[in-house]
Amino acid sequence: MPLDNSLLVVDGLKATYANAITALDGVGFTLGRGEILALLGANGAGKTTVLKALSNLLSAERGQIRAGSIRFADLDVARTRPADLVRAGLVQVLEGRHCFPSLTVEENLVSGGLGRSAARREIAADLEKVYAHFPRLRDKRRTSSGLTSGGEQQMTAIGRALMSRPRLLVLDEPSMGLAPIVVRDIFDTLRRLNREEGLSILVAEQNAAVALRFAHRAIVLENGITVLSGTASDLKARDDIKAFYLGHKPPAIIAPNPDPAFAG
Ligand SMILES: Nc1ncnc2c1ncn2[C@@H]1O[C@H](COP(=O)(O)OP(=O)(O)OP(=O)(O)O)[C@@H](O)[C@H]1O
Ligand SMILES: [Mg+2]
Repeated sequence: MPLDNSLLVVDGLKATYANAITALDGVGFTLGRGEILALLGANGAGKTTVLKALSNLLSAERGQIRAGSIRFADLDVARTRPADLVRAGLVQVLEGRHCFPSLTVEENLVSGGLGRSAARREIAADLEKVYAHFPRLRDKRRTSSGLTSGGEQQMTAIGRALMSRPRLLVLDEPSMGLAPIVVRDIFDTLRRLNREEGLSILVAEQNAAVALRFAHRAIVLENGITVLSGTASDLKARDDIKAFYLGHKPPAIIAPNPDPAFAG
């Protein structure tokens, strides 16, 4: 086990697709145990690529890691199979709230517990916990997921991830296409899981306003490079962040990083 408090350490990450397209050109950050970290950036900045690299899923898209390293707990991610990363507690909710549309909400949730080869009683207990966090899912438990709302599908996708008992929950744009009130409901629940159960969370978001309200700390990606990092309240106060991501002014050039702990 590492001696420090870090759960995830990404260092100097470079990645390409199809041996040609550079998607990441120097991404580095650390996520501490119990922390909520937001990964911000515009369209095509490289957020999803970082998340896929964390779960060792890049090769499925003809992506390659060119340099750098990713450590989760005591694992070298690039040398660990995706299923083993899930078993070790790194669980991802992919973009687009993937549910099996013809399965019921409850069947979708149970499918998340199967990878652990958990006992039936354990799965039932975990299911109760998910329903306690997302009461709407209990009401819809017998409904086919394909017939539920976008918000309910996102809750189902998160609930299914919780069924595999994550230590680090990774979410790709969970707010996308959802009404603000639903987004708030989901982030409130995630906050509670963080507070009450110490769940660590990494969330990629284009919606910086929402993400900075929710996260403890954030990093900003631009063209595959980490250009900024800091506490959520520091970043919220920066004019260039407001201009870029919160839509207050026309885009400005992002100034050098003020955070001395920022490694680049
Ligand atoms: N499967 C792929 N094959 C080739 N290029 C890709 C692939 N996926 C992403 N890219 C390219 O890699 C770069 C980073 O894309 P990525 O999807 O990681 O960005 P993102 O920050 O998640 O964007 P968005 O906010 O639109 O989801 C972009 O230039 C994109 O076009
Ligand atoms: Mg993306």
